[in-house]
Amino acid sequence: MGAGKSTVGQVVAERLGRDFVDVDREVERDVGKPIAELFQERGESEFRSHEERKTIAALQQPGPAVIALGGGAVETPAIRAALRERAFSVLLDVDPETAWSRSSGSGRPLARDEADFHALHERRRALYDEVADARADDADDVVLAAGGVHVRGGSLELVGSLTPGDGRVALVSDPHVAGIHGADAQVALGERLVSVHEVPQGEEAKTVAVVARLWSELRLARDATLLALGGGCTTDVSGFAAATYLRGIDWVAVPTTLIGQVDAAIGGKTAIDLPAGKNLVGAFHWPARVVVDPRLLDTLPDRELKEGMAEVTKTGLLAGEPLWELPLPELVRRSAAFKTALCLRDPYDRAERAFLNLGHTFAHALEAAAGYEGVTHGAAVGLGLLAALRLSGRPTDVVEEVLAPKRVHVDRERAWVSLLRDKKSWAGEVRIVLLGDAGPSVEARPEREIRAALDELIAD
Ligand SMILES: NC(=O)c1ccc[n+]([C@@H]2O[C@H](COP(=O)([O-])OP(=O)(O)OC[C@H]3O[C@@H](n4cnc5c(N)ncnc54)[C@H](O)[C@@H]3O)[C@@H](O)[C@H]2O)c1
Ligand SMILES: [Zn+2]
Repeated sequence: MGAGKSTVGQVVAERLGRDFVDVDREVERDVGKPIAELFQERGESEFRSHEERKTIAALQQPGPAVIALGGGAVETPAIRAALRERAFSVLLDVDPETAWSRSSGSGRPLARDEADFHALHERRRALYDEVADARADDADDVVLAAGGVHVRGGSLELVGSLTPGDGRVALVSDPHVAGIHGADAQVALGERLVSVHEVPQGEEAKTVAVVARLWSELRLARDATLLALGGGCTTDVSGFAAATYLRGIDWVAVPTTLIGQVDAAIGGKTAIDLPAGKNLVGAFHWPARVVVDPRLLDTLPDRELKEGMAEVTKTGLLAGEPLWELPLPELVRRSAAFKTALCLRDPYDRAERAFLNLGHTFAHALEAAAGYEGVTHGAAVGLGLLAALRLSGRPTDVVEEVLAPKRVHVDRERAWVSLLRDKKSWAGEVRIVLLGDAGPSVEARPEREIRAALDELIAD
């Protein structure tokens, strides 16, 4: 009671594109009167039986939904059983004083006397603990929990207990990351760790040859877990190995770069490269858990942090909030939650997930025109965001301030050809992500406008 379930639940439902059911409101609609009146006229037990019926009906509906339970619902055994079977339950934690100050005077029948209120809270606490699959303080936390993304400083030390199941674990990382964080991960995995594997540092990890070597090195049963510790290259290739080995085993991502923590490790896209282009082979294979420990970024070189800030800036623009201004741990949590929500909404990248490509049509064209050398992805995204904002008729000062993008020396024709190959023009128009007042959308724009925006990013 007073934790904010109705408010947070509504926000989470909107962000995930799911129905929202507020059980208390449903009961009120059913009986045609406020709960306080129902309590007064028919007593608590009458209310509880309405609550049980409505809650179980909500839990039985076929599609996924966000359901705000009544504060006392967990006291009904049938509801607890239904929750265990049908729900991922998130406890919206609130201290008793805050709960009382929000609930008292609200007319709620069980929030009239402070001592009774606290005694009730105490009595229910054990039941909340019993049903909770995760705990949350706000909507971002709920989204992260729903996506299996655990964000907290110091979580590498707990990675053993954060890795679901009790099967064996194989650890994959690049030699550089293994040298910095490998020992801590090994200690944390303890006896579950059965083998340690290395993939090359950087994009060289994302090849068929590296996956083939992982396939042949792994000696795992179906219930085992592959744990990838490293940047986006390590998690991309390891996730793909996990998606294919024994037709798919569980995997856990422990991202160690900013790109990994806010982007690459989230959303279940795994991939390797082909000579013809990046990420051309892969699978959707959602990690059983993503363990994000922002403290691991302490050892990350500035240039890698800057690469990640390009994605953070993109995310902040999409979210309409200056996420880039937040301190690192909070910036990671909020950005990771934004991506998680979009991916839960559109896991197979058929709709809204495309918004994550803001600026990327231009970025990919510039990177390709540079032959993937000399122009980093982050630098190209900074430029791409400029182009996307200009085409959206929006100011670009934020991107200039945070990322200070510099025009690149690449061949204009080559960049344009790459963009068209990537995007396929339709009737002289190219579809790109733009940012409007109501948020992002995918829009068709005439080729000449796109080309002019691209040209502006290229130095003479
Ligand atoms: N799957 C997705 O949805 C998705 C999304 C975005 C990007 N990606 C992919 O991610 C890749 C880029 O990710 P990246 O930049 O993290 O790559 P990366 O794995 O190459 O890491 C970058 C470098 O940082 C080093 N490093 C990693 N963690 C460190 C730490 N804590 N301290 C010091 N050094 C550390 C690595 O050894 C490496 O040299 C690209 O291949 C891209 O395609 C995938
Ligand atoms: Zn990107």
